[in-house]
Amino acid sequence: NRPFSEKLEVPEALTFDDVLLRPSESRVEPDEADVSTRISPNVELNVPVLSAAMDTVTESGLAIALAREGGLGVLHRNMDVEEAVAAIERVKRADEMKIRRENVVTASPEQTVKEVDRMMDRAGVGGAPVVDDEDRVLGIISGTDIRPYLEVGEHDEVREAMTDEVITADEEVPPRDALELMYEHKIERVPLVDDENRLAGLVTMQGILARREHEDAARDEDGRLLVGVAVGPFETDRAVAADEAGADALFIDTAHAHNLNVVESARDIKEQVDADVIVGNIGTREAAEDLVDFADGLKVGIGPGSICTTRVVTGAGMPQVTAVSQVADVAAEHDVPVIADGGIRYSGDAAKAIAAGADAVMLGSYFSGTDEAPGRVITIQGKKYKQYRGMGSVGAMQSGGGERYLKEEPEEGEEYVPEGVEAATPYKGSLASELHQLVGGIQSGMGYVGAETIPEFKTDARFVRVSQAGQQEGHPHDVMITDEAPNYKPQSE
Ligand code: XMP
Repeated sequence: NRPFSEKLEVPEALTFDDVLLRPSESRVEPDEADVSTRISPNVELNVPVLSAAMDTVTESGLAIALAREGGLGVLHRNMDVEEAVAAIERVKRADEMKIRRENVVTASPEQTVKEVDRMMDRAGVGGAPVVDDEDRVLGIISGTDIRPYLEVGEHDEVREAMTDEVITADEEVPPRDALELMYEHKIERVPLVDDENRLAGLVTMQGILARREHEDAARDEDGRLLVGVAVGPFETDRAVAADEAGADALFIDTAHAHNLNVVESARDIKEQVDADVIVGNIGTREAAEDLVDFADGLKVGIGPGSICTTRVVTGAGMPQVTAVSQVADVAAEHDVPVIADGGIRYSGDAAKAIAAGADAVMLGSYFSGTDEAPGRVITIQGKKYKQYRGMGSVGAMQSGGGERYLKEEPEEGEEYVPEGVEAATPYKGSLASELHQLVGGIQSGMGYVGAETIPEFKTDARFVRVSQAGQQEGHPHDVMITDEAPNYKPQSE
């Protein structure tokens, strides 16, 4: 047996504040640095940014906003499977130019106005073609048709409220012609029909305009926004349902993916779905070695998150820059992408994570204060905040998140052993402006290193070790900040 004292001959592990990127000769103008990346064989993003699968961060609203800007939202799993499917469908439908028949929300003439109103609300659509039993288009019903009925006739049938002189177009119509039809008739959606007037799809004004407005959006080959979905390591049902609903990537979501039961189950799930399967979280070379033969991507982070208490509660963890670099060593040999998840406070941290070997970063707190994150704005002593809680916090585990920590629900009278806290983050406004700062910072980092692309950034960047004095020097010092910068808040806040 080895002496116990040998255990203390320990390797050093570093995190963001321990290192800086070493400036190098460069001809790269930051604005021209290409930040597109790949997080799995079939998922390419235009910015290397994902949002955390947390119930105070990513639901369909944030996933839509982030995909429109070129990144990827990962829907959390504190919702039941049906809700998750509905959320996936909302994202996939959001900017679809030509919505395929199977994805069009339709009403029947016998439904009540109230039923259809609820259905449209749930699906996040503003109108629905009305079809008979043989799928022939009888009319169209929209929020405008419904509104007068909600006061007095919500139990009336849809056939009363719908617009029956419906403008349709042939299923092969080019989107440009559909747009002209909409302008000409001042309408927002045109059902597409086959030669027997059966519904074949739908074109919406919203879809066409959104496509034009968001040129750099992350889209699938049909032009629909990309979406990721978190599934529990043993939740095959959710994985299969999410896959069928059109999720582009499934994220096996656990705090310790090097648990061998998780490894086996994740491998099983991978065999049952078409979507790419990304597995996490891990923090060591050995974990990567056990996953890399089947995982389409690896996610790294054991305890770096802003709301995490894993390291204090369990004594286990791995400082994030070392964790990323160890996993990336193994992943690179197998051409498997790596995502650095958690602990990113500033854009410089994201740049360091990529320079250490990640292909993209995942953020929770950074996005939780935006308009698009779930939850309302609260005001405390005149300052605005939004709620943000760890998925291992008592509140989130009570709403169903305990499995991430491989814990059973406590017996009656027992308490959870949480690994996260419930908190508030400063309210930040729109996701687009936060993301602009994040990506701008990463691009500037690439400029300092002389990297034109993310793969170059990963291979060419070099680090220096920073002392505590060096770290302090890097923050504003000896001044009183008078005007807040959009991308800097003092560490104590
Ligand atoms: P940031 O720092 O971006 O971190 O807010 C988000 C990531 O933190 C992880 N996460 C947790 N980790 N206890 C933990 O130890 C928790 O309760 C918890 N909730 C989330 C997760 O990986 C997320 O993406």
